[in-house]
Amino acid sequence: MFLVKVNATSANVCVGFDVLGLALDIQNEFSFEISNEFSFKGFEKQYCTITNNLVYKSYCKVFELLNKKIIPVTISYKGEVPVSRGLGSSSTLIVAGIFGANAILGNPLSKDELFNLACKIEGHPDNVAPAIYGGLIASYKANDCYNTISYEISKDLKFITIIPPYKLSTNEARKALPKFLPYSDIVNNLSRIVNIPYAFKNGDINLLKELFNDKLHEPYRGKLIKDYENIKNDLKDLECAMAISGSGSSMLVITKKTDIVLDKLKKYNYEIKIVGVGSKVIVEEV
Ligand code: HSE
Repeated sequence: MFLVKVNATSANVCVGFDVLGLALDIQNEFSFEISNEFSFKGFEKQYCTITNNLVYKSYCKVFELLNKKIIPVTISYKGEVPVSRGLGSSSTLIVAGIFGANAILGNPLSKDELFNLACKIEGHPDNVAPAIYGGLIASYKANDCYNTISYEISKDLKFITIIPPYKLSTNEARKALPKFLPYSDIVNNLSRIVNIPYAFKNGDINLLKELFNDKLHEPYRGKLIKDYENIKNDLKDLECAMAISGSGSSMLVITKKTDIVLDKLKKYNYEIKIVGVGSKVIVEEV
């Protein structure tokens, strides 16, 4: 039997839309045990069928890619990553499915090949890259292949997730985006994303706060997230940087002084917690 442990992610990191992502140490764990037929344990009932289980669908993609006969398994899940909250829950399912299949097959595919398969399934790389490689990571596409570059994170930076009780689907959040944007908005983001690795490496929270001013998605998605503007306003004078996590509904706050931030946020009836940086996906034979 193989265990696959995959961390949550916070995609975009504000100005890095569809490019940058950060792994967080909130974990989902999956197991794959060879069986006579497919079965599912630990998932909500509606996900316990082969037509509606993303781990299963991703698992099968590895067999299809390699032209191999699919080996049935019992897939078990237990986890902490909240669903449809912008913390990469679907990425954990995809990554688990393909790494589980690869392990069952004796690891024919490299990590980079699995990453590219995960990007094809997910549609964009910024959630799956940190789930696979850990930490802060940027992706770019060349010759139809995604590549990644990892960046250092200062130990002084602390991360807080603000998780509302309501879901927001990525589909819905992507529909809220305009089809075209003015050059000035693109330049706003380019001028900021290029400096993000410097701010993370040096733990420069004041710089990070200035860089966290997105014009590509947050102005449009913020309207879908109740209290986004209120929380932003509450935090505006503190030494912290705030962003929508992935496509929402959660928000990510980066600071060196968690107490002051938590104090400002305590009036909100949300799940608010300090989280660490997440590491790469782990596959164990047990
Ligand atoms: N970059 C993606 C988005 C992440 O913001 O839509 C969510 O999958």
